[in-house]
Amino acid sequence: MEDVKSFFDKIAPFYDRIVRMAGADYVLWSRYLKLLLLQNAPGRKVLDISAGTGSLDVNLLREGFDVYAMDVSFPMLKQAVARGMGGRVVAGSFFSIPFSGKSFDAAISTFDSLNTVLSSEGLLEVFRQVYDVLVDGGVFLFDMNSPHSYRVYWDGLERVDEGEGLVVIWRARREGAITRLAIDVFYREGGVWKRISGELRERAYTLRVINGLLHRAGFSRVVCLNHMGLALCNRNTMRYQIIAFK
Ligand SMILES: C[S@@+](CC[C@H](N)C(=O)[O-])C[C@H]1O[C@@H](n2cnc3c(N)ncnc32)[C@H](O)[C@@H]1O
Repeated sequence: MEDVKSFFDKIAPFYDRIVRMAGADYVLWSRYLKLLLLQNAPGRKVLDISAGTGSLDVNLLREGFDVYAMDVSFPMLKQAVARGMGGRVVAGSFFSIPFSGKSFDAAISTFDSLNTVLSSEGLLEVFRQVYDVLVDGGVFLFDMNSPHSYRVYWDGLERVDEGEGLVVIWRARREGAITRLAIDVFYREGGVWKRISGELRERAYTLRVINGLLHRAGFSRVVCLNHMGLALCNRNTMRYQIIAFK
């Protein structure tokens, strides 16, 4: 079983095209995050703890946020540098954030990155690490797929996305709280089709568990919104947008 880092190292050169073909709209997404940050964070210094190729961060930077893009995958960060985050990228893991003290007004994590944390103890450690680098009154904004979404959408999913010189096949299978997400990427290089395959495991956490772990890490208040909206979460929520206040 490959780890999360090698999965993203491998697909990094194709990541942006893969997620766009799957429907990600980073312009809309960064506007949503901007709104949540302006409404809830005490200032504009932000750490993205799983920044990937920096698509959201570069938009937030343009909107006047003082954003730093951290990720465990160098090839993903290389794309972030190419996109304009140079000087603001940080190699590091959210299990051991390489900053000390209360350095940030907000931390963010997007696109289900925290579902790749497979144990509650691991998730608690991430929450503790984030808590430590936030100023008093700081906020942690992150999204996670809900157990409901793994049940009704991901389980049994087979889907093919096709673009210019790129074909992506997704397959997902649920095994209790863990969903295995297999991806095959076919790309054309020098007139020849090549293939990269990988598998990610993602864990579903109930809102109750997430809430409990955030409080154990020290956060004082937790709000859950339906992702990309402002309505409060309910049992049909597909993706949680959490706002945790220090
Ligand atoms: C689904 S991608 C999301 C990237 C970006 N946030 C976005 O919205 O496009 C998940 C990212 O989390 C990163 N990641 C996984 N484990 C990590 C860890 N322990 N510490 C920091 N980043 C990690 C991966 O390298 C990958 O770039």
